[in-house]
Amino acid sequence: MPNNKTRLAVFCSGTGSNFRSLHKAIAEKPLDAEIVLCISNRSRCGAMEYARENGIAAAHISEKQFVSFDEFVAAMLDALHMHGVDAVMLAGYMRKVPDAVVAAYHDRILNIHPALLPKFGGEGMYGIHVHTAVLAAGETESGATVHLVNEEYDKGRIVRQERIPVLKEDTPESLAERVLACEHRLYPAALETFLEELKAAQAQ
Ligand code: GRF
Repeated sequence: MPNNKTRLAVFCSGTGSNFRSLHKAIAEKPLDAEIVLCISNRSRCGAMEYARENGIAAAHISEKQFVSFDEFVAAMLDALHMHGVDAVMLAGYMRKVPDAVVAAYHDRILNIHPALLPKFGGEGMYGIHVHTAVLAAGETESGATVHLVNEEYDKGRIVRQERIPVLKEDTPESLAERVLACEHRLYPAALETFLEELKAAQAQ
C-alpha cells in the first residue's frame, strides 16, 4: 500500500523539546505524517542527538560550511528534496529561513513563537528576551503562537494560539517555563489543523 503520509522536516538549533513533542504526538495519535529529517545549523545540540537516537536523518547545514550563500541554500533545498519533504516545522531554529526555501515551500513552513503574535515578535525577539519584554509591558496574558513562515520574521498567517495568564510573581524564567509547556500542547494541535488544511488543498 502506498505511504501517503505527509513528510516533515524539523529545523532546530537547540534543545529540541518542541521537536520531541511533535514526534511523540505523531507516534501517539497517530497523525498522518512522519518526521523524516532534522536540519540544524549546529552539528551537536539536543535536537540533533534526539534525531540520531530515533533513526531520523540529521543534517548539519550551516552557512559557515559553504563558500557562498547560494551554495548553502542549494544544499538545504537538496536535503529537503532528497528526503521528499512536503512541509517544514521550525522548532527553535535560530536562523532566518532563506527566501528561496520559503518560496519553494510556500505556505508549507510553520514556526512556533513563545508569545502572542503580532505582539512581541520580530528580529531580536527570541528566548528570554520575549518574556522579559512581556513582563516589562505589564501584560496580563502571554502564550504561544504557531504561524506560517514568510520572508519577514514572525509575520506569516497565524494558524493557532494558546493563552496563559501572566502571574504577579512571574520572572522571565518562570513565564518561559509555563509558555514552553503550553507550546508542547499547541504545536501538535496546530500540526493536526495544518495537515487537514494541506489535505483539503490537495483535494481541490
Ligand atoms: C521555543 O520557545 C520556541 O517557541 C522558540 O524556540 C524555543 C525552542 O525550544 N522558537 P526547544 O528547542 O523546542 O526546546
